[in-house]
This record gives sequence, C-alpha cells and structure tokens, in this order.
Amino acid sequence: MTNPTLLILPGDGIGPEVMAEVRRIIDWFGAKRGLAFDVTEDLVGGAAYDVHGVPLSDETMAKAQEVDAVLLGAVGGPQYDTLDFSLKPERGLLRLRKEMDLFANLRPAQCFDALADFSSLKPEVVAGLDIMIVRELTSGVYFGEPRGIFEEGNERVGINTQRYTESEIDRVARAAFELAKKRAGKVCSMEKANVMESGILWREVVQKVHDESYPEVELSHMYADAGGMQLCRWPKQFDVIVTDNLFGDLLSDVAAMLTGSLGMLPSASLGAPMANGRPKALYEPVHGSAPDIAGQGKANPCACILSFAMALRYSFDQGDEATRLEKAVETVLADGVRTADLMQAEGGAPASTRQMGDAVLAALDASL
Ligand code: NAD
Ligand code: IPM
Ligand code: MN
Repeated sequence: MTNPTLLILPGDGIGPEVMAEVRRIIDWFGAKRGLAFDVTEDLVGGAAYDVHGVPLSDETMAKAQEVDAVLLGAVGGPQYDTLDFSLKPERGLLRLRKEMDLFANLRPAQCFDALADFSSLKPEVVAGLDIMIVRELTSGVYFGEPRGIFEEGNERVGINTQRYTESEIDRVARAAFELAKKRAGKVCSMEKANVMESGILWREVVQKVHDESYPEVELSHMYADAGGMQLCRWPKQFDVIVTDNLFGDLLSDVAAMLTGSLGMLPSASLGAPMANGRPKALYEPVHGSAPDIAGQGKANPCACILSFAMALRYSFDQGDEATRLEKAVETVLADGVRTADLMQAEGGAPASTRQMGDAVLAALDASL
C-alpha cells in the first residue's frame, strides 16, 4: 500500500520553527506507530515570493490539490508590507483556501486544565472549556466583488463586499450541525442580521437547514458583537459556533485567549470529499508568523503540533493516534513545561521551541 501524502508549507517567521517540531513528531509516528507519510516540503508566503516572485507558485498550488493533506506554518512579515496587494504573503494562503474550496474552517478552543490559571479570564470561567468555532472560509467580505481602491471625485474610496449565496451558507451550516451531533448537540450561529442583509439571509438559511435536516440539534442565533461579549463572559455556554469569514477570524482570536495563548490554537480547513472519501484539507495554527519573536527559538509549537493531530483525525482516520498526541501535549503542560507565551514575566526560564518539542516527544514515548 502506498503511504498517505502530506505537503508541508512552513512559510514565514515562526512558521519554519514550529514546523520543525512537527516534522519530528511526524517521524515519530512513522517509526513508532507504523504510520509513515510521504512528505514533500515547499514554499508559501514571503518565502515563496523571495524565490519565485509570487506568494504561491502554480506548481505548489497543483501539488496542494493532489496530496491527502496540506500542513501550513504561517505567512507574513513586515518586510513584505509594502508589496503590491496581489503579491503579499497572505494572498498565497488565501489562494490555497479558495482554489481548494476549503469552506469549513474548524477552530477548536479547548482549555487544558494546566493552563486554566494562565488565561486572562478567571479559572472557573475557562476550566474545562471545549468549544468549536466553524468559520466559513472561502467567501464573504474576503472574496466578494466589487473590491479595490478607486478614485471617487477628489478622493479615494476603499471597497470590499460582503457576499454570501444560499448554497455557501447551507454547506457550512451542515458542517457545523454534523460536528454538533458528535459533540454536545448545540449550534450557535452568529451574524449581524440587525444591520446586514447578508446576515438576514445567513440566519434564514441556517434555520432552514436545521429545521429540515438537523431538528435534534439545539440551534440559537446571536448577533456577532454580542457573541464576542458572551465568549468573554461565559464561554462554556457554547458548543459549536458557526459564523462567516470575517466574524470567524475575529472571534477565533478572542477564543484563543480563553485557552491561554494564541500559540495553543490549531485549525483544520476542510472542503468537499475527494475520490477517497476524505475531505480536501489544510491544517494550520490560528496564529501568524509572529515577527516579534521570530528567529529566537521562543515560539510555542503546540498550535502547529495540535494541527497535525487534527490531520490525523480528519484526514487519516487515526482518531486514537490524534488523541495520543493531544494527551501528550496535555501531559507536558501538566508537568509545567512552558514556552514564554505561557508564562508570567516573573515565571523563570521558559522552554524553547525545541525543548517543548522534546517534551512532547518524550510524552509520546511514555504513552507506548
Ligand atoms: P501573530 O499571530 O503572528 O502574533 C500575535 C501575537 O501572538 C504576537 O505577540 C506573537 O508573538 C504571539 N504569538 C503568535 N503565535 C505564537 C506562538 N506560536 N508562540 C508564541 N507567541 C505567539 O499575529 P500578527 O502579529 O497580527 O501578524 C503577524 C503576521 O502574521 C502578519 O503578516 C499577518 O498577516 C500574519 N498572519 C498570518 C496568519 C497565518 O499564516 N495563518 C494568521 C494570522 C496572521
Ligand atoms: C487567519 C489569518 C488570515 C485570515 C490571514 C493571514 C489571511 O488572520 O488565518 O486567521 O485573515 O484569514
Ligand atoms: Mn486571523
């Protein structure tokens, strides 16, 4: 049998640093669990621009379409801020999402017990937290037309368009209801139907999908601004949250801080099933390239490691091995291993990216 294929795109800033730890963990699964992957590595973002003059080459795009799963580190950096819009590192990632049609972005926010005291919220508010944000990823204001910066009279106008079709809302709503069925059975849909027509349509379609196909799931609707407030007030009221591309971007960063650090939050971006029945998929941490700490060996690799765990679960049908890896991260945190982002300023010497990777590998060994 041929091995499953993985395309690794480390990207920019801390991307390559955290991905180096994931590479070691992939090798561990090959050596110790008989789970070998055929891994190819390629360029995305500023790293691709530096070599090819574009943030994602057509060749890399074609490879991404062929593999069983893509694993991405992060893209972006201040040195690319002045590039033409179409050449910015972020456009490489957006092209991958759009052309692979990865419409359902799963962003789980789980608070590991060992980090409950570290959250900026009270421990009782976050302890045991386990929510799943499903962010629509291929439409909305990120892609709507018209868009651009135009001359209008004697000044310029910047335009982006929020646009959602019924079928785009329908398919992401189904993804959220399917997840809820395997979890606590609740979906909260967030939009701003009070001020946006696209929000009115969003609410109608989500309700219709619910009534026709998922009546057993408990559905509620919330305005996205109130949703942000409720996420900070009492996040444990939520199970699955389904929302659009932009609100999902904001709300998932908020949710990240409930868990202690942006360095902890993984994500899976899933599309329609391929010929083998598995969804097209890209896995990446929610965080960015963290230019402020890049190159210093300080980055927390857990979000990227946990993104690989999501790949094991959603692309390779290895739920038990995914749980093994998640438990290894949990053990390491319970043992007090902390990268700098998980410590107070006076907390002593933090673990480096490599030391955190070493600790996870040791916990994996101990799990056998
Ligand atoms: P960021 O997520 O890179 O960083 C925000 C803060 O969180 C920084 O202080 C950073 O040091 C910290 N942080 C993030 N990840 C961390 C980790 N693993 N360990 C420890 N600390 C971590 O967001 P930003 O600063 O707003 O953006 C920087 C660049 O990254 C921009 O170019 C942006 O467009 C890009 N970005 C890319 C992605 C992605 O590739 N998916 C996501 C978000 C931002
Ligand atoms: C994310 C990022 C991206 C987004 C950028 C880098 C394109 O913030 O994945 O959360 O806005 O979707
Ligand atoms: Mn974001």
